Amino acid sequence: MPKTEGLSTMRVNSILILLLVLAGFILVLIPQVNASENSCIDCHKTLTPFIEEQKRFNQIRIQHLERNVGCSLECHEERVRSLATANYQQWSESVHALKGVTCEACHGGDPKQAAKEKAHINFKNNTDPESPVYYTNVPKTCGKCHSKELANFENSKHFQKLESLKLAPTCTTCHAPHTFTVMNPEDFRQSCGNCHSVYKKVAPYDIPLKAEDMLRKVNKLKFNIEMAQQDIFWAKKNGTDVSQAEAYTDNALKALGNLAPMWHEFNLTHFEDELDSANKEVKKANELVGPKATPTKTAAPKSPGFIGLSGIVSLLAVMYLIRKK
Ligand code: HEC
Ligand code: HEC
Ligand code: HEC
Ligand code: HEC
Ligand code: HEC
Repeated sequence: MPKTEGLSTMRVNSILILLLVLAGFILVLIPQVNASENSCIDCHKTLTPFIEEQKRFNQIRIQHLERNVGCSLECHEERVRSLATANYQQWSESVHALKGVTCEACHGGDPKQAAKEKAHINFKNNTDPESPVYYTNVPKTCGKCHSKELANFENSKHFQKLESLKLAPTCTTCHAPHTFTVMNPEDFRQSCGNCHSVYKKVAPYDIPLKAEDMLRKVNKLKFNIEMAQQDIFWAKKNGTDVSQAEAYTDNALKALGNLAPMWHEFNLTHFEDELDSANKEVKKANELVGPKATPTKTAAPKSPGFIGLSGIVSLLAVMYLIRKK
């Protein structure tokens, strides 16, 4: 008995090797198709909504909608199909794509299966409370990788209200699938204002403006840290001991790193305290290496030049007057 087992494993092995060689050939011949080795990507990439037939379907669907005709099953499938494509396209331009965070990281399924039904194994509709992308499950799904953001978010009123009321933002309210970009402060009036407004009756009403102001301050802090680093660079070149100034900017950088995750606690007072402490560190570094006499750096190199020039001009004028007399 053991002999035949050995034989059969040998046979299985040689078949496997043959298959591997074949797969190698296919890989060499059509590298693009198999490049990702992830069936979700391979398949969803090809679901282009721009092929003629699909355009025609979309046209029919739009006409149905215009005439208020209930959508047929076929149209519905078309809608889901184009959704799946649009999601691929947005994802492919995202930081997640760049870092290799593929579809199954959030949706589950089996990316080694080429057939749709097998790849989509155990899929739940996103309206099913058991789906990993059901809105109350989204924080946990993202938190697998963004643990600091999750921990802060769980500490927020938003999270409490999300669990009880459904009336609060989840991660994807602010980081839209599938681009998952970070919002700009300018977007806040609209996005936070969707809930925090007199009309929607979610206090505090001044949040959009306050939040906008806060993140502008974060951008200013980033700028000031960069300026301090430049000053340190030149001071070092001039032979100044910059170790203390470097320690201060390191502290500021550390606080800056805390700010983004801490933001998700949505406690603006707490956030502002951390921001202030970072600003103090930059100021201390500036006192050591920054231009001292002038309050703003950009004005610093200009004003002595201008004063110097006007000094020379007035000196020449006085000399000219004296000579004339
Ligand atoms: C062989 C092609 C194919 C593969 C492989 C595939 N999909 Fe899909 N997927 C589709 C199509 C087509 C749709 C559009 C709806 C439908 O027909 O089920 C879809 C729909 C979806 C949806 C929408 C939810 C739904 O069921 O309506 C999600 C989410 C999704 N796919 C994720 C994935 C993930 C994650 C993987 C890999 C683990 C994957 N897909 C692998 C073809 C594929
Ligand atoms: C970083 C996490 C993440 C990644 C990566 C991701 N998705 Fe999604 N996806 C989500 C979330 C969250 C939702 C639910 C959005 C909502 O409810 O508005 C969603 C919704 C969808 C939907 C429609 C809703 C549904 O589930 O029926 C489709 C289709 C879909 N994703 C396909 C994909 C495909 C294809 C990829 C890979 C190319 C992908 N997603 C990658 C998080 C992700
Ligand atoms: C499998 C791990 C993983 C999962 C799950 C995941 N992410 Fe990410 N995410 C990353 C990585 C890696 C980066 C790149 C930056 C980094 O290294 O922190 C990133 C970056 C981001 C960024 C910054 C984008 C930018 O433009 O700088 C946002 C916002 C983000 N993710 C939101 C989400 C949200 C929302 C979810 C859940 C729907 C999610 N992520 C799920 C791994 C993940
Ligand atoms: C109400 C809006 C909102 C919600 C909800 C939200 N975020 Fe954010 N997120 C932001 C803003 C604004 C920033 C930029 C903060 C900054 O620049 O200091 C950000 C930044 C990020 C970043 C980038 C951090 C970095 O180091 O640059 C990641 C990752 C992220 N969020 C993930 C998540 C995850 C995961 C969730 C859910 C648990 C979530 N966010 C919920 C608004 C939100
Ligand atoms: C989907 C609705 C929704 C959106 C969008 C939303 N919030 Fe909220 N927010 C709430 C709810 C609900 C509360 C709790 C109000 C209460 O306690 O009555 C809240 C409370 C807050 C609080 C007070 C927290 C506390 O501890 O008292 C802050 C700060 C806040 N949100 C900031 C923001 C910012 C900043 C944005 C935009 C980036 C935003 N919210 C977007 C629903 C929302």
